[in-house]
Amino acid sequence: MNSHEPLLRIQNLDITFKPKAHAVRSLNLEIDKSQIHGLVGESGSGKSVTSTAVIGLLPEPPAKINSGQIIFKGRDILKLKQEEKRKLRGREIAMVFQEPSKYLNPSLKIGEQIREGLSLHLGMARKPALERAFELLSMVGLGESRRVLDSFPHELSGGMKQRAMIAMGIACNPSLLIADEPTTALDVTLQLQILELIYDLQNRLKMSILFISHDLNVVKQIADRVSVIYAGKIVESADKKAIFKNPLQPYTQLLLLSIPDPEKRGKPLKAIPGTVPDAEFIPSGCAFHTRCPYSKKICAEEMPLLKEYKTGHFAACHLLDGNTG
Ligand SMILES: Nc1ncnc2c1ncn2[C@@H]1O[C@H](COP(=O)(O)OP(=O)(O)OP(=O)(O)O)[C@@H](O)[C@H]1O
Ligand SMILES: [Mg+2]
Repeated sequence: MNSHEPLLRIQNLDITFKPKAHAVRSLNLEIDKSQIHGLVGESGSGKSVTSTAVIGLLPEPPAKINSGQIIFKGRDILKLKQEEKRKLRGREIAMVFQEPSKYLNPSLKIGEQIREGLSLHLGMARKPALERAFELLSMVGLGESRRVLDSFPHELSGGMKQRAMIAMGIACNPSLLIADEPTTALDVTLQLQILELIYDLQNRLKMSILFISHDLNVVKQIADRVSVIYAGKIVESADKKAIFKNPLQPYTQLLLLSIPDPEKRGKPLKAIPGTVPDAEFIPSGCAFHTRCPYSKKICAEEMPLLKEYKTGHFAACHLLDGNTG
């Protein structure tokens, strides 16, 4: 892998669901080594479909990957055999979900669940693997005693379950951790603790993280770089500072106005008019044109390309090309 090659490069990814839902549309996304990349978008915009494709868990059917590449460490994940994907998953790419209860095995003690991954991927024997599991639980703040190691998922609180899931995620020291709305189901105090934990772990382990959220405020706290997704397409991607200081795409601009900014307390929030289009009925041209206050004729006719307008700052919008007609 040459030094300019990102850890993960998604190119022109296109995914549909039967009969005709267009969930992901020529999506492009790059994640650098050791980067926390925030992926933001409203509900139904294609965040989870994209990330399940990356981890090789997209159910085909009903999903169909029509085109594109997902290059991870120089190899196209979409071309790997099931067995190769299984090896990658958990070992090289791991995932943390919004609802850990759905993904933790209810009938297996937490320690055993972590041990399983270590034995499967790293061939560790039972005893050292359990020791390592305890170490991992300590890393995520669950090491005050060996109790958690011997607990079943239902014996843990929501925050503890999320921590245990993160311990499983980092167990094999993956290069990429995908965190799909890991804090959404938690109350505000817990949210902050989990965010801090993920941030600290990244600092220690230097893995890349794809951090998915519909909440720009959460992404603002944790990400290095931010990509905004709308109706299955990336509409803007830049360093966090640039996204928050100088958003180029109208959707990003409106998204920023629609979130409570702790520094501008008291200012009224503007909701974006309308709703995210259904994947079965994506508007023509720029999918956002139906909600965009600046929409021009061309916006309904042609799909704008994601272009680099400033170094490292990409956006897809006809207006940025001076289209006024
Ligand atoms: N199994 C499925 N069958 C049909 N359509 C699906 C299926 N899974 C997802 N979709 C559609 O794909 C689109 C993207 O869904 P996705 O779950 O990726 O959204 P999301 O951005 O993760 O939303 P949220 O913030 O609510 O988690 C949606 O329109 C959804 O209805
Ligand atoms: Mg989702």
